[in-house]
Amino acid sequence: MSSITGPRAVPVADLTPIEARLEHDALAREVAEHDLRYHGEDAPIISDADYDALRRRLEEIEAVFPELKRPAGVTEKVGAKPSEKFAKVRHRVPMLSLANVFTDEEATEFVDRVRRFLGLPEDAPVAVTAEPKIDGLSCSLRYERGRLLVAATRGDGEEGEDVTANVRTIAEIPQTLSGADVPEVIEVRGEIYMAKDDFAALNARQEAAGKPVFANPRNAAAGSLRQLDSKITASRPLRFFAYAWGEIVGERPSGTQSGMVAAFARWGFPTNPLTLRCESVEALLAQYRAVEERRAGLPYDIDGVVYKVDDLDLQRRLGFISRSPRWATAHKFPAEKAATKLLGIDIQVGRTGSLTPVARLQPVTVGGVVVTNATLHNEDEIARKDVRIGDTVIVQRAGDVIPQILGIVAEKRPAGAKSYEFPKLCPACGSHAVREIDPKTGKEDVVRRCTGGLVCPAQAVERLKHFASRNAFDIEGLGDKQIEAFHRDGLVTRPQDVFTLQARDARSLKKLKDREGWGATSAANLFAAIDARRSVPLNRFIFALGIRHVGETTAKLLARRFGSIEALSDIGVAAAAKDEKALDELTSVEGVGPVVAEAVADFFGEEHNLEVLRELLAEVTPEALEAVATESPVAGKTVVFTGALERMSREEAKAMAERLGAKVSGSVSKKTDLVVAGPGAGSKLADAKKHGVEVIDEDEWFRRVGG
Ligand code: IVH
Repeated sequence: MSSITGPRAVPVADLTPIEARLEHDALAREVAEHDLRYHGEDAPIISDADYDALRRRLEEIEAVFPELKRPAGVTEKVGAKPSEKFAKVRHRVPMLSLANVFTDEEATEFVDRVRRFLGLPEDAPVAVTAEPKIDGLSCSLRYERGRLLVAATRGDGEEGEDVTANVRTIAEIPQTLSGADVPEVIEVRGEIYMAKDDFAALNARQEAAGKPVFANPRNAAAGSLRQLDSKITASRPLRFFAYAWGEIVGERPSGTQSGMVAAFARWGFPTNPLTLRCESVEALLAQYRAVEERRAGLPYDIDGVVYKVDDLDLQRRLGFISRSPRWATAHKFPAEKAATKLLGIDIQVGRTGSLTPVARLQPVTVGGVVVTNATLHNEDEIARKDVRIGDTVIVQRAGDVIPQILGIVAEKRPAGAKSYEFPKLCPACGSHAVREIDPKTGKEDVVRRCTGGLVCPAQAVERLKHFASRNAFDIEGLGDKQIEAFHRDGLVTRPQDVFTLQARDARSLKKLKDREGWGATSAANLFAAIDARRSVPLNRFIFALGIRHVGETTAKLLARRFGSIEALSDIGVAAAAKDEKALDELTSVEGVGPVVAEAVADFFGEEHNLEVLRELLAEVTPEALEAVATESPVAGKTVVFTGALERMSREEAKAMAERLGAKVSGSVSKKTDLVVAGPGAGSKLADAKKHGVEVIDEDEWFRRVGG
């Protein structure tokens, strides 16, 4: 633990901005960690007095450097955010999801498909249950000898989180089951949800206490269940409907879906009263409509009606397709819509310079959520729908997806509304924004992009993060947060600035040398980490430039072929000047097609990129790659590493194999030559068996490659 609170601590007023930032960030992380230990795990590792001292120092720094304060920073937070510390529970029977249908025709087709699969005549009666699809989160409750033992969330369907302590606080969920027909072991499954009025009251309480409000009842239910402190869960009004089951040991109480749900009700579970067993598709659709009509008046949110084949023997025969049963489907309600006014269109600039139009709307409630923005996708979409500022538009919100504009209400168009002109210049930097032509199809890309590259401030931050990231320059201590902060302060706006940071910050450098406070060590560490990257492998250097379509693999191919950044840049500049030979040379690289060649040419065709390159090369030396061995026993082979490697890191293994002329792949296919498996290898091992691929362990790998 650092000694920043000790007598050697530098007075806050003497800190340089860089020192202050580094110390602030480290302290904030430290305090957050103690918060978590204290609130989340009930296991603090420092005394209250030490904790208070850390926090005081943090607050002092923020008082002198208010720009370091973050809206959701630790100094503003009460308690800790729930940790990732729930124990995992493996479901003995996977928790599946449901396929969806949206129309009466599709619902009819579902029943027809069931009949066809079972080889039944077209008019054979198949009983199917219809029940509301509750908008909450599913939970599996394991009872052994009638007593609740484990409660788990769905998770990824295979493995969920152990929320037993929290579930025990839910009054509607019985702790023990009564009834002569309760099996020895039964996992009862259903939906945990929050009623609409309980949700409104909870949000009112949150608001009054200055705490964040929940977007909808489902989020509120999930947030309440996933509390580390079950006292908090206990204070939240959660409810439950039982509708399914997992493992059963002993006798099943019924042979039908409806019979099982009836048994759950007898044993003390709430079950949904709108569940109906239907003998025909007509009856199913009538129930769908009846439920839809009652939807707004129900005390809880639902988003459709679930159909399930009633006979459990038929369910067994029908089985599953990937993650969902063939015997069930969800007939979803149409997404909710509302009309509102389009106040303006904002253009957002993404990481790769993509210009995305976002509709600014007069706030409107759609499905219980206030919507103020919606996506307009792209330029063509705006033209196709002829959306104009001032128009009344129809907004649709489905589930968690970003609201969309479906179209306009033509009659309500104000007189004089003008067609929307999509900007041809980037709103962030003023560079030209263009639509690329796909060389294969000859068609324009739907996305218009800013050509400002590294000089566009909107792209700059994201590109700087990429530049310093693990697979690029890999500068330790220069993470996303640091880059955002340095960029905000104008300390680092271009890649080359990273390497001149120390020289430019002479004042802090002098002070760093003068004393040995914590901030100094940390700044010195950062400067040392930066210095350590003054020489980097050429492929990393190329990857770090963030040329469109040039990922790690392509960067490596280019590095191997051209051998130096100067050679690559000469080719790139020539290709940009439409030199056919240069373009041919680029596309002749195995694995480089016209799209990449074009992107390379575009990059080196921009003077500002060449300037970055020149200035960067004054600070950094890219190193040519080691020659690839062609004689090695794995040369030309495709290798997959899986499981835990003990003698080398995954990165290292990959580099070694590539150095030896092998191609490393992430997944096993019939093209794989060799799988190197460490302990804990899972599905890839099974894939290797399936494809008859040779599997060796790490020691054997070293024996073969002579390590
Ligand atoms: S049955 C094997 N019934 O919907 C099928 N699911 O999309 C298991 N849900 O994860 C699910 N109400 O969270 C079923 N009456 C209902 C439901 C329901 C809501 C949720 C559940 C599930 C999701 C699947």
